[in-house]
Amino acid sequence: MKLTKKAAAAMLAMAMMASLAACGGSAEETTAATTTAAAAETEAEAEEAVTEAETEAETEGEATEAAGGVIVMGTNAEFEPWEYHDGDAIVGIDPEIAQAIADKLGMELQIEDMAFDAIIPSVVSGKCDFAMAGMTVTEERKVSVDFTDTYAESSLVLLVQADNTEITGPDSLADHKVGAQTGTTGDLTATELVGDGNVERYNSFFEAVQSLKQGKIDAVLLDSAPAKVFLSQNEDLKQAGDAMNKEEYAIAVQKGNTELLDQINGAIDELQADGTIDEIMNKYIPAE
Ligand code: ARG
Repeated sequence: MKLTKKAAAAMLAMAMMASLAACGGSAEETTAATTTAAAAETEAEAEEAVTEAETEAETEGEATEAAGGVIVMGTNAEFEPWEYHDGDAIVGIDPEIAQAIADKLGMELQIEDMAFDAIIPSVVSGKCDFAMAGMTVTEERKVSVDFTDTYAESSLVLLVQADNTEITGPDSLADHKVGAQTGTTGDLTATELVGDGNVERYNSFFEAVQSLKQGKIDAVLLDSAPAKVFLSQNEDLKQAGDAMNKEEYAIAVQKGNTELLDQINGAIDELQADGTIDEIMNKYIPAE
């Protein structure tokens, strides 16, 4: 859709008004401006946001073309097979499902790669419209964001060096150094199991695994599918014990954004029903 700057600004303003009038409107209106409006506490602030949105639409030129249709996903692309870098591209299960959702919503998907523990704050602040990062639904996260229906299941597993005979599962972890990516459920669970002082936190699970291979830590606690990828690439590692728990992955949106939540849930529903999500999942996670 090619819009003149003026029309785009007007549309943005309308989108703002619609969202102020308690979330009326369609997918196209879920733009940065809408989220700004939702965050605006008073009418004055909201009006300021409209003006800002107009100015932005005017100064961004080309970008105005997509002003009504870009949806921004926050992720951390260090988590194969869920999301990872392939050259310049960010690929994996989540980007593919997100693309399918964006297609259903008639929006253009834009992916923002960031540290895992920056993702939820980016949704809270409205920098991203949604988070999709192999992200587990937890009570703690539910305090700051709303989760869609779940689209996948996972569990935590322990990786150790292949010749390790001491660690046979979570019960034998005491006093051992456990590594995880900062802010993940692996980090939180490790902290519960061995105490804060015995947990080493890394920017990515890749770094944690390197550290394990070098013998700097004794184990890494992480999600099952990425663990499988590491095991297939590192013969000097093995899994200790069985999967520890059950976790569910879902997409996070800004608290109270029921409009976007419903739209994404609708899309997930359809993509589950027609087999698209299974198909994407099977492509990246080969059956046993
Ligand atoms: N499922 C875990 C969690 O939610 C780990 C997710 C890590 N995701 C990533 N893209 N690095 O905490």
